[in-house]
Amino acid sequence: MEQRGIHGVWTHRWTFILAAAGSAIGLGNIWKFPYMAGENGGGAFVLVYLVCIALIGMPVMMAEVLIGRRGRMSPINSMRFVTREAGLHGAWTGIGWMGVVAGLLIMAFYSVVASWALKYVWATASGAFSGLDATQVGDRFSSLLADPLQMLCWHSLFALMTAGVVLLGVNRGLGAVANYMMPMLFLAVLVLVVYSFLHGNFSAGFHFLFDFQFDRLTWPGVLKAMGHSFFTLSLGMGAIMAYGAYMPPHASVAKTIITVGVLDTAVSLLAGLAIFPIVFANPPLEPGAGPGLLFVSLPIAFASMPWGSVFGTLFFILVTFAAWSSSVSLIEPGVAWLMESKKFRRAPATLLLTSIAWLLGISCVLSFNYWSELKPWFLLHRTPFDFLDFLTSQLMLPLGGLFIAIFVGWFMKKSVVVHEMDAEGHPLFDIWRFVVRCVSPVLVALVMVLTLIDSF
Ligand code: TRP
Repeated sequence: MEQRGIHGVWTHRWTFILAAAGSAIGLGNIWKFPYMAGENGGGAFVLVYLVCIALIGMPVMMAEVLIGRRGRMSPINSMRFVTREAGLHGAWTGIGWMGVVAGLLIMAFYSVVASWALKYVWATASGAFSGLDATQVGDRFSSLLADPLQMLCWHSLFALMTAGVVLLGVNRGLGAVANYMMPMLFLAVLVLVVYSFLHGNFSAGFHFLFDFQFDRLTWPGVLKAMGHSFFTLSLGMGAIMAYGAYMPPHASVAKTIITVGVLDTAVSLLAGLAIFPIVFANPPLEPGAGPGLLFVSLPIAFASMPWGSVFGTLFFILVTFAAWSSSVSLIEPGVAWLMESKKFRRAPATLLLTSIAWLLGISCVLSFNYWSELKPWFLLHRTPFDFLDFLTSQLMLPLGGLFIAIFVGWFMKKSVVVHEMDAEGHPLFDIWRFVVRCVSPVLVALVMVLTLIDSF
């Protein structure tokens, strides 16, 4: 039995790869990965992250795509379809529900960080950084954080931009944005790596990222690395499932996902290689500087580079685009569901969900000024910004991934899985299936349980 969706399919096979890469490659790679590696001991974090991408991220990503492709609908309804098909209890649909909620929660803080990038487009273009030293660049960022009204404006603008693309629908909106910007972003990051190589402390940066010091590893650090491997691949909340639903019937899931995973990892590592040499060459900066790392390290490079304000502007434009093509995938699953099941048209569905995320996002804007010291117990002694990040990356996404792996590994009929993977008789198929059945779920569960024990 083949399902048909109401939202259309990608016009080209490449559109899926580009859209999935567009969703995966975003602030997670350029902003979050470097700052988390910096806070969690560099190499130790990077190694765990790479292992998680290979043993959990990519295999589970294939599982998620194939549920979407089987169901051909929004994550909630695709889950409902495959659950019925397998004759299971409706509770499995909860994976889809949790995903829609997680998407909105992520969008809340994602939009705020993206809005910093947006602001930095103007700041670099107007030459605000030229000739400044490291301390002055840092002060610029601090003064942005201290200005909730300004942050709110940029946050609102980014939310509107996201809504605009989701409004346009599958091919016109989501596909089109990703096509041109991704390759250019890749190039821009490469140019920055070359700059760091020539002008930064490249060897210190390199050793920081790739010397695997196991004594720096803690269980919470491992959970962060694992959670980040989900975050960076857009995994565990249905985004990739929703995109998979728009995938044409004959295309190899495995090849496609490996392409996306490798591109995504490459961008993260290159971003790290661009940022850390600059950090180590400018002593007031430190790798553990936290969420501001990207926004204080790179402007220093732009301040001293020939044509720095032109290149810096271009760079932040590309970062904004990367964030944009990711944020649409945070809203799309919910929108698709409202359209299928609640008879919404695309416009009101988009506006409703973006507004919810935007409202929640205001708490993240305030996390950096008025509420920065307010860390209530019910947010586990975190600011709203940190709490939303923690709740989604370290709990909801891994749990979503765990259940997706268990579902596809243990409950979906093997013949259905073979058919949707388009992998008839492929020798690697059995290895993949074994990983999804036994390796990924056990690793995810183990890391979560050990972290829990460790935190008591
Ligand atoms: N992967 C994106 C990034 O690295 C963020 C993102 C988009 C995401 N959609 C997602 C994360 C779905 C988790 C789930 O920036």
